[in-house]
Amino acid sequence: MAVQPMTLLPPDLDPRRLPAHVAVIMDGNGRWAKERGKPRFFGHRQGVEAINDLVRCCKDWGVPILTVFAFSTENWGRPAEEVNFLMGLFHEVLQRELRAMVEEGVCLRFMGDFAPLPKALRDFIEESVQATAHNRAILFNVAMNYGGRREILQATQALARQVEQGALRVEQITEETFAHELYTGLLPDPDLLIRSSGESRLSNFLLWQSAYSELYVSQVFWPDFDRACFYQALKHYQSRNRRFGKLDSSPT
Ligand code: IPE
Ligand code: IPE
Ligand code: MG
Repeated sequence: MAVQPMTLLPPDLDPRRLPAHVAVIMDGNGRWAKERGKPRFFGHRQGVEAINDLVRCCKDWGVPILTVFAFSTENWGRPAEEVNFLMGLFHEVLQRELRAMVEEGVCLRFMGDFAPLPKALRDFIEESVQATAHNRAILFNVAMNYGGRREILQATQALARQVEQGALRVEQITEETFAHELYTGLLPDPDLLIRSSGESRLSNFLLWQSAYSELYVSQVFWPDFDRACFYQALKHYQSRNRRFGKLDSSPT
């Protein structure tokens, strides 16, 4: 069978029922490399290609927001060699891709605790966010040194500080005011959360925001996650009946 480039939304997906926000836990780079008898960093490099194409795919198919988990607050526990490699890779890829992202209308954002990141990477994050701030074709949000628990703690501390200073009353802490203090701010919650490599856990990702996300576990290792895999995830999403705790609203 001829390989389809899948540049257009596959005709059996309903363009009116696409998720407004897709979040992805990109997992399995190391196992992908191991399977090929290569070092883990080889898998990380290949994983970058998969994410590059997924951003374009979201743009081509009409998914307006993509959030990806690039590095967790727990990933510092890996050997220094791997952590250093990843930090270097993030910087290198950002530098390589920034011009294309500016031209293609990608609005780049980052979320997480940036303080422990190498200064050169922090500076480049700021530069790339500024350079793409006015782009509107797709919002590409990268979770970098991100931890869901840390995010919730930081939001709690920010609100507690406002109460302490008399700027906020305790009763004014609502789901809305709380959510605004999270890194995701005013972004809508992810409708669809995908994890690759067959693992069905959140690993501290978007703990608050994923309360009602549809979860989809793909069996493939992240570097092999292509448009056909994304199509499967969207098919799954469109087949779900999202009830949000209520009763089935579809006709019986
Ligand atoms: C995901 O792949 C990438 C990061 C966490 C940075 P892994 O590196 O976790 O790959 P596996 O899970 O060990 O195969
Ligand atoms: C989650 O993957 C973090 C990222 C994808 C950045 P991990 O590989 O770190 O998660 P665990 O250790 O399998 O839970
Ligand atoms: Mg992993």
